[in-house]
Amino acid sequence: MDSIEIKDGIYWVGGIDWNVRDFHGYSTLKGTTYNAFLVMDEKVTLFDTVKKGFRDDLIRRISSVIDPKKIDYVVVNHVEMDHSSCLPEIMEICRPSKLFCSSRGKQALLQHYHRPDWPYEVVGTGTEVKLGRRSVQFLETRMLHWPDSMFSYLPGERLLISSDAFGQHWATSERFDDEVQQGELMEHAAKYYANILLLYSPLVQNLLKGVREMGLQIDMIAPDHGLIWRKDPGKILRAYDEWSIQRPVSKALVIYDTMWESTAAMARALADGLMKERVSVQVMDLRHTHRSDVMTQLLDACALVCGSSTLNNGMLPKMADVLHYIRGLKPQNKIGAAFGSFGWSGEGVRMVEQALQEMKVEIVAPAMKVQYVPDAQALSGCVNMGAKVGEFVRQRT
Ligand code: FEO
Repeated sequence: MDSIEIKDGIYWVGGIDWNVRDFHGYSTLKGTTYNAFLVMDEKVTLFDTVKKGFRDDLIRRISSVIDPKKIDYVVVNHVEMDHSSCLPEIMEICRPSKLFCSSRGKQALLQHYHRPDWPYEVVGTGTEVKLGRRSVQFLETRMLHWPDSMFSYLPGERLLISSDAFGQHWATSERFDDEVQQGELMEHAAKYYANILLLYSPLVQNLLKGVREMGLQIDMIAPDHGLIWRKDPGKILRAYDEWSIQRPVSKALVIYDTMWESTAAMARALADGLMKERVSVQVMDLRHTHRSDVMTQLLDACALVCGSSTLNNGMLPKMADVLHYIRGLKPQNKIGAAFGSFGWSGEGVRMVEQALQEMKVEIVAPAMKVQYVPDAQALSGCVNMGAKVGEFVRQRT
């Protein structure tokens, strides 16, 4: 595939990574893309580059439009290596007269590539650069996703090049939102938000407020991963507004790991109790569920109910992994409870409950512990516990 013209004289020249399956702990089961954009004007400008290993794709796509040596400017909206690790090769090939980045971007580029000789031009929110008949305005978006991150906005084209924000990890032959199935598109966008941006939700709220106040007219949002939003960019802006508010819906997540199926039986009984209260339930066995899929389901859930058997005086390792991961992403407005079976010492459940409390999940039912195998009475207790959590979910949503 050559370049794709996304607007008059503006081309997608990125790379498609069909094979990546792990993005620092996030399962990318359908790969991803590293999007880069070439603007043809008096100053030919390349917005972002690609991950090392995709240089040839980038150069081939640029070459389908213009000789890469004719690139005048390079813009680095974000230094993370999925967008910059082939920058040294691109700088060598293209030798641009200016490299635009934020002040934190310059610092990070120096610390990554140790090239003080590059022609840095530091820009900040409100800086406008003329490219010819077009101009570009920059908007710093610190921590979305790194301190260096920024957006590039082309007002004449009403085009927002949004770096990581509004992206999806999804390798496709299609380039635009209206060319793919909408349900799957939004699932990928939600997974991306839940696993990458959730902890920065207050900043997302500020950003959306800022964009509204600045009155930016946006016809197209071109993120650095996944599909470009051209049919309805408002759709992803509205979704980010909703996700960043973290208003829970009537939904509970029951996640568990189990040694000999006792904790699994408790999980199913708890789910029955939640369903009795007409709460939507997702039961996830961590032996078969990736942490990043748990996180996606947790995005809009009200309740997080966690179960683990006790192993070696602690919780099972997969539960520890998931709780550690969730904690880092700082979900808000959750209620929860802990449960699990044990043999003799039984510390696992207490540790799960403590982990939930430490991540500010409000505990709404006493922890449920069963020694060895639950009998009918114990399972009935789990149903009642599920119903109690369900009542709280209904009150909160
Ligand atoms: Fe796609 Fe934060 O890098």
